[in-house]
Amino acid sequence: MTARIDPQAIKEKLTTETLGRSVVFREETASTNADAKALGRQGAPHGTLVLCARQTAGRGRRGRSWLSDEGALCMTLLLRPPFPPELAPRYIVACALGVCRALRACGASARIKWPNDILANGRKLCGILLEADASGFVAAGIGVNVNQRDFPADIAGTAGSLLTATGRAHDPNDVIARILAECEPLFAACGDEAGYAALLESYQALSLTIGRRVRIFAPGEEYDAKAVGLDPLGMLIVQRDGGETRVVGAGDVTIRGAIGN
Ligand code: BTN
Repeated sequence: MTARIDPQAIKEKLTTETLGRSVVFREETASTNADAKALGRQGAPHGTLVLCARQTAGRGRRGRSWLSDEGALCMTLLLRPPFPPELAPRYIVACALGVCRALRACGASARIKWPNDILANGRKLCGILLEADASGFVAAGIGVNVNQRDFPADIAGTAGSLLTATGRAHDPNDVIARILAECEPLFAACGDEAGYAALLESYQALSLTIGRRVRIFAPGEEYDAKAVGLDPLGMLIVQRDGGETRVVGAGDVTIRGAIGN
């Protein structure tokens, strides 16, 4: 039988100083991001970890829903940036890199599809949704497919889990502790110019998108381009067919051709 999320087990495994030192666990909730935002407005501290066993209205990027079936890990970290709010998008880069490293430490050949999907063997193992509150905090929601064997028909061709990627079941409490351990120094590096420059380089090295031909679905337009790098806030720099360079900050990017690792 696979292990269940257990706040006490997580506390025993934690090696972090700030992330996860306060844990809020609910058996069932609508969305851990919504809960983290409510807690943030009540003054919950930086690093608060919001967790649940079942999420009934998980939110994805661009208004999509997020499947939170048995075997899924749904968690949100409340972050209070010690730097100006306009730099908060740095947390997107840090979070994607931290989760990617954690899933690699679990044995998956994980890489990052810009901006913050984590894939292994061409299948999505994790989605990340960062929501900034007007008062200055950020809710970093992380959904990891940990122990699912099967997925509903509409995502069966694109979704994977740590189990399907590595051939074994994983203790979600270990996965959580690893994610926090990887993310903590990266979140701290977001406030330091040299540290953040190094973080961007590490992200690019694990990127599935950079160097690839992509199709950009931006608000109001669609075009083919080559992904050539990231700008200082983690936006994607693309060279549009025909020569023009663009910075893509929103919308969807499809990688052309097979996505291998
Ligand atoms: C995506 O669209 O890829 C992002 C999905 C993010 C899902 C996670 S699950 C935990 C947290 N709570 C939510 O409602 N969404 C995020």
